[in-house]
Amino acid sequence: MIENVLEVTRLAGEIVRTGFGKNFSIETKTNDSNIVTDIDKKSEAAIINYINKKFPSHGILAEESGADLKNSEYIWVVDPIDGTTNFAHGLPIFSVSIGLTKNGKTICGAVYDVMRDMMYSAELGSGSFVNWKKIRVTDNSNMAQSVLVTGFPYNIKDNPDNAVEKFTAFLNSCRAVRRLGSAAIDLCYLAQGIFDGFWEVSLHPWDFCAGQLIVEEAGGKVTDFNNNQLTINSSQLLASNNRIHEKMLQILQEN
Ligand code: IPD
Ligand code: CA
Ligand code: CA
Repeated sequence: MIENVLEVTRLAGEIVRTGFGKNFSIETKTNDSNIVTDIDKKSEAAIINYINKKFPSHGILAEESGADLKNSEYIWVVDPIDGTTNFAHGLPIFSVSIGLTKNGKTICGAVYDVMRDMMYSAELGSGSFVNWKKIRVTDNSNMAQSVLVTGFPYNIKDNPDNAVEKFTAFLNSCRAVRRLGSAAIDLCYLAQGIFDGFWEVSLHPWDFCAGQLIVEEAGGKVTDFNNNQLTINSSQLLASNNRIHEKMLQILQEN
């Protein structure tokens, strides 16, 4: 299956790269911060078309068109562009993220960092790779020397999760905090040992399905803010190199 996941992720990535910097339409969704372009829709349509042709009995959960689960044990979880705001404003940090779950467990996933032409991938039990090279999380256990990354939800103005307070608390306890604008890329850079930790207060399954497996297969840990395993309904996400997980949990719980 991983070959198919990689093939469709790359195919969608080509559509996204071709559309970058050209004329595209932008529509707002829930508010002015939450947007979708016609390239998101083109990318998603190509992915759905691929899956329906090759695996007509499989279910799909895709950001822009919703759920078509078909009562299948296999569900493809699709983010056609993760980092749409970056894409739409000309910042070359965005990805295509596709995870495949079997009976609720992610069995393989790919995140294509489009403009860097970096394909991150993992298969359950087989490690994580970028462009076929094995990757691993850092072994740093010192919070003060950690570089973390986060993101903010589109409903930041009325989100009850104290996203800004948590951000300030981490700024005061680690070396640096970054905000790239693509949760899937955040997770892959953690898996690759660029970042030591990542948290976000409100995500959707398509933001983290593939990236979670890539972090775990690279030796990292992914939970919610109470140290519970994530489910398809989770929105809070903490991912780390494992070694700073407890310390990050403590900060998230205290703020
Ligand atoms: C968003 C990105 C961003 C994160 C937001 C997500 P989208 O996804 O992953 O980094 O902070 O919470 O919604 O809308 O660009 O697919
Ligand atoms: Ca997303
Ligand atoms: Ca998206």
